[in-house]
Amino acid sequence: MLCYLSAPLLSASESLNRLQKTELFPNHTESAYFCTMKERVLSGVRSTGNLHLGNYFGALKNFIQMQDQYECYFFIANLHALTTHPEPEMLKRSVKAVLTEYIACGLDPEKSAIYVQSDVPEISELYTLLNMVAYKGELEKCTSFKEKIKKHAENINAGLLTYPVLMAADILIHRAHKVPVGKDQEQHLEMARNFAVRFNHKYGVDFFPEPFAFDMSGQLIKVPGLDGSGKMGKSESEGNAIFLREDADAIRKKVMRAKTDSGPTQPNQEKPVEISNLFTLMQLVSAPETIAFFDDAYNNCSIRYGDLKKQLAEDIIAFTTPLKEKILELENNPKQLQEIAEYGAEKARKSARQTLGAVHDIMGLTSIWK
Ligand code: ADP
Ligand code: TRP
Repeated sequence: MLCYLSAPLLSASESLNRLQKTELFPNHTESAYFCTMKERVLSGVRSTGNLHLGNYFGALKNFIQMQDQYECYFFIANLHALTTHPEPEMLKRSVKAVLTEYIACGLDPEKSAIYVQSDVPEISELYTLLNMVAYKGELEKCTSFKEKIKKHAENINAGLLTYPVLMAADILIHRAHKVPVGKDQEQHLEMARNFAVRFNHKYGVDFFPEPFAFDMSGQLIKVPGLDGSGKMGKSESEGNAIFLREDADAIRKKVMRAKTDSGPTQPNQEKPVEISNLFTLMQLVSAPETIAFFDDAYNNCSIRYGDLKKQLAEDIIAFTTPLKEKILELENNPKQLQEIAEYGAEKARKSARQTLGAVHDIMGLTSIWK
């Protein structure tokens, strides 16, 4: 078996050239970021709208906590967003919105590579190559594909089918080990592992590590939506998601409209889904005493859902307000955002080029005329 270690492939002059471009990020040095033996982490969010509490607690909270310990790559998945044909100007706005929200939440361009997927063309090439080890049957069985073709029956394109291959390319291009995502992405990770293992086996190499979904708490999470129907999501029904940049009044209205029932009739009754969803949201933003207070009230049948919702809304507002303020501040400085994206793409491309070069060698795409 051939064993590939990630060796630095840049020439000294190329590295120097890079270092000269770091005025914007004075604390950064090549050696501090690249070529470390730290475990690699990668994750991304599709540019399909503004970030909500589900994105924050399922993904971003982990991104932020992982930055100091790992070599991190965080990106904005604008190619994945194309599978549902967004209008071009709208897509650009969404990319900017996600980048702004990444930074406002605490992603640090000095610690992590923060980039836009389409700025790293090596990903698209690896996607083409990985398509050769992905089978039509397994792609058709993927739950997210089955859901998407129901939802977009008029646009069942090949991009939807091969969505997990592009996602595997995102991960494998940096040979990442850990992928901080919410519970809904577990199956995609399983597919990425299958492609990695199949590639290694087919070519007799030990090249791609097996990537795993990861949450710092040890458990992948699913933040429920306010409509009682399932997960909080950008494109679920109106009123289902609370966005990080949302106004206090809009948050109050959405929470007060959340579905409840007529209340418990017996002590210590099991909570129905809509009610347990409200408690799950409280676990994320409220103090333990608050949760205990409403839990006791539920268990002794004295709970007033109006009070619970009012408290939940105020706790969400207290959590999102500082983030919203940072988002608004950053929006006034598009030049800074552009510089962050360019700097991140440069870092990501360096790592991507290393992987792709090795993949070319392994697959027989180099030294053809020797
Ligand atoms: P959305 O489903 O809102 O369009 P994405 O699919 O772009 O969001 O998800 C980006 C990240 O946020 C992924 O890691 C995903 O697992 C996570 N995520 C999205 N919604 C939730 C949720 N309700 N609970 C937990 N994690 C979530
Ligand atoms: N599929 C992910 C989602 O819908 C977004 C994504 C694209 C992603 N590529 C990725 C997440 C790579 C983690 C790693 O949320």
